[in-house]
Amino acid sequence: MLQIPDTLAARPVTLPTAMPAPSLRPEAAQDAPAVLALVDGAFGPGRFAKAAERLREGNRFQPDLSFVAVSEDAVIGTCRVWPIRIGAVRRDTWFLGPIAVAPRARRLGIGARLVGAVHAALSARGGGVIVLVGDRAWFAPHGYEVVPHGRLSMPGPVDPGRLMWRVVGDVSTDGVTGAISVPHGARPAP
Ligand SMILES: CC(C)(COP(=O)(O)OP(=O)(O)OC[C@H]1O[C@@H](n2cnc3c(N)ncnc32)[C@H](O)[C@@H]1OP(=O)(O)O)[C@@H](O)C(=O)NCCC(=O)NCCS
Repeated sequence: MLQIPDTLAARPVTLPTAMPAPSLRPEAAQDAPAVLALVDGAFGPGRFAKAAERLREGNRFQPDLSFVAVSEDAVIGTCRVWPIRIGAVRRDTWFLGPIAVAPRARRLGIGARLVGAVHAALSARGGGVIVLVGDRAWFAPHGYEVVPHGRLSMPGPVDPGRLMWRVVGDVSTDGVTGAISVPHGARPAP
């Protein structure tokens, strides 16, 4: 960090020094505390009350589809992806979230890189449908659309304008409809 005098306030202010471009890699077991700290900072304890949390309880994020951004050995970004079941049919369907970037590292394209890494990894494993609950303004440029009304239901109330999906690879949302739940036999998080 660089200290410079703040002539107006007559006290030092702290500016971030240039941050080396972070590297992205799949989340590893030892990243969990840093990831949870990032998510806590971004969403606070209120996140446990959200419908999305019902898809994470009793579930385990998919290691090869969940990424961290690392700069100077610090985890500064996270994006987790979880297996889900939609309706009666088990398909390649996934739930994305949370995604969070450390406040000091935002607006540098790291969030976009994290989502891009998820899409590339899902494409490499044959594609699938990704569902999320999030801000349309941020996710629409990444290919997400609001789910047509009534097609999917979350395990709790959500703003239907924030329930979004996209396909990756040569798959379709035809027939993808119903209640979203944790797949039977999902391994609970340790
Ligand atoms: C959303 C988040 C992950 C984006 O990470 P990031 O690394 O800053 O993302 P990028 O650099 O790729 O994109 C930044 C752009 O997205 C915009 N943006 C950030 N959050 C946004 C939001 N909720 N809605 C719309 N636009 C948003 C920024 O203003 C910026 O726009 P600009 O490039 O025109 O200045 C990050 O802001 C964050 O961690 N937010 C708190 C957690 C959160 O809300 N996550 C879920 C989002 S629904």
